[in-house]
Amino acid sequence: MAGLRKDFLWGASTSPHQVEGNNLNSDWWALETAPTSPFPDLSGDAVDSYHRYNEDMTLLAGAGLNAYRFGFEWARIEPADGQFSRAERDHYWRMIDAALRLGLKPVVTLHHFTLPRWFAESGGWRRPDAADRFTRYIEFIAPALQEVDWICTINEPNMLALFATIQEALFKVTDSQGAAATELATAMAQVRPDQALGDTLAQVHRRAVEVVRATTNAKAGWTVAQQAFTPTEGNEDVFERVHHEWEGFYLDVARDDDFFGVQAYTSQPVDANGPVPHPQHPDNSLTGWAYRPDALGIALRRAWDETGGVPLLVTENGIATADDTRRIAYTTEALGHLEKAVADGVDVRGYLHWSALDNYEWGRYAPTFGLIAVDRETFVRTPKPSLAWLGACARRNGLH
Ligand code: FCB
Repeated sequence: MAGLRKDFLWGASTSPHQVEGNNLNSDWWALETAPTSPFPDLSGDAVDSYHRYNEDMTLLAGAGLNAYRFGFEWARIEPADGQFSRAERDHYWRMIDAALRLGLKPVVTLHHFTLPRWFAESGGWRRPDAADRFTRYIEFIAPALQEVDWICTINEPNMLALFATIQEALFKVTDSQGAAATELATAMAQVRPDQALGDTLAQVHRRAVEVVRATTNAKAGWTVAQQAFTPTEGNEDVFERVHHEWEGFYLDVARDDDFFGVQAYTSQPVDANGPVPHPQHPDNSLTGWAYRPDALGIALRRAWDETGGVPLLVTENGIATADDTRRIAYTTEALGHLEKAVADGVDVRGYLHWSALDNYEWGRYAPTFGLIAVDRETFVRTPKPSLAWLGACARRNGLH
């Protein structure tokens, strides 16, 4: 069986808002702290990686990993319209230096769900000048990105298109907490990706790729949530439509990119009504998703076919579980599917596990995805056995 490339990236991923803490000027902070917030938890200090990134990266590198995906936080770098912070840019520059010093290839995300509040509240991605504003931010941080090889422009544009409807509904909620929760549930049940927003994000992405190519030495791509949909009998047409609307469109956009970021956790059948919600099952993860480690194989093969052969980087894959042996079992199977895809000729450049740390899972801390546990009062880090296990795969450059 053809093995993995010698320069295969083995690492873990995080996003700024989920681990840094006190992302005060972001739209998510505003959403969480609104009196009508439907979320059980505030991000608060998160796991204080803003100050403890060196310790986090040291644990990853010490285990044997050679890559770390993290993000720059636009809301810190441009907290008010046109007001750019050199000090915040330098913070991320120091993170890149720290990663390189430790032997970790930095994979940098430019936008991972959170926006500066001023930008979000004045229309967000729907602003006519959205691409100009985003690329102005990229140009400002470009000096810090000179030694970075991998840049992800927009994380999960397809989820943004999906969340847009929900988030707008939330901002409009003025009633009690209960009403907000009901409204969220209703919005969730009816939600479909907003194609107009998808089109806009595709334009923003293309401009961002141009600017990344012009101002850095990095490969540019975006990272897409792949649901690994499968048709149920007789519903092939609905499957085609749902697949295109939820992810096929975003795979097409990536055809001219330098790489494509595969993010896969689970798989869902599609019936006559669309995606079938995950049925209750004892094997479901803490996010309620079906246990489907084969999703990674489905996602890789589809991304390879539908982008027309763009090199793939797994930028997220993992499981929310309190039982670390489940994490190892899930990841073993997922990596088995990855290795089979590689043996069949799919060009996969690396595997970045979600997540390095237990973190703020967009509204709650309960779903634990981390290779490292964190005590949220003392911020003490405790690596789980899965970290050493993944590090051993990295040292061997393969499962076996
Ligand atoms: C993805 C997000 C990431 C995390 C995982 C579980 O959709 O990109 O931030 O929440 O799911």
